[in-house]
Amino acid sequence: MKPDAPALTLLRPLQVGDLDELMTIEVRSYPFPWSRGNFVDSLSSGYRAQGLWAAAPTGVGLEPEPPALLAYTWAMEGVEELHLLNLTVHPDHRRAGHARRLLDDLVAWAVPRALWWMWLEVRASNEAARRLYEAYGFEEAGLRRGYYPNVRSTREDAVLMRLDMRSRLAVLGGRLPDDIPQDEAGASAGWAGVAEGEQ
Ligand SMILES: CC(C)(COP(=O)(O)OP(=O)(O)OC[C@H]1O[C@@H](n2cnc3c(N)ncnc32)[C@H](O)[C@@H]1OP(=O)(O)O)[C@@H](O)C(=O)NCCC(=O)NCCS
Repeated sequence: MKPDAPALTLLRPLQVGDLDELMTIEVRSYPFPWSRGNFVDSLSSGYRAQGLWAAAPTGVGLEPEPPALLAYTWAMEGVEELHLLNLTVHPDHRRAGHARRLLDDLVAWAVPRALWWMWLEVRASNEAARRLYEAYGFEEAGLRRGYYPNVRSTREDAVLMRLDMRSRLAVLGGRLPDDIPQDEAGASAGWAGVAEGEQ
């Protein structure tokens, strides 16, 4: 059964002070989670880190509670492209549209900055994530063999996926800048800061 979406949610950039709460979600979500140090390095590197929060109800007689972290994205800006490094939703709050909302947020942020393509790697066995990305409009662009660590010292392939964010923004109803050629091809980029193939 799908969880009820919280009545009030808000998006804001993640900060070092959010990392303890974030790590409780991260370690529940991956066999090979990012370390706290990976996140600190990613903040220092200027990666875009966005959190989606559930605002706690307030009212007469209620102690105000801090918002709870539901989901987050970490993305690295490149030349005309964005690399999605981490998208994670709290295990108790999945199938409520939070991942889709965070992807919408990235698209709406990226296109006005002339970032046309979103790239990502996903474990070949990660059915939920692959379905999410396919449903969202990503297409498969290649395979990286043995990219991820796996149990018993084996390796697992990554599927490389890309999204034409201009097309997606148009679907979302956003306005495209007029001077963007529509037939540009993106190029895959490497990145620094986080060890290759974690998660
Ligand atoms: C993959 C993940 C991010 C999806 O987050 P989510 O908030 O549950 O996804 P959404 O609710 O926005 O789902 C949007 C669509 O994606 C697809 N989808 C998402 N989870 C799915 C699942 N478990 N099975 C099948 N389809 C799924 C569906 O099409 C869904 O639309 P619908 O609910 O209307 O059918 C979440 O399961 C997660 O955090 N997993 C662990 C971390 C991870 O694997 N991250 C991705 C690394 S590349």
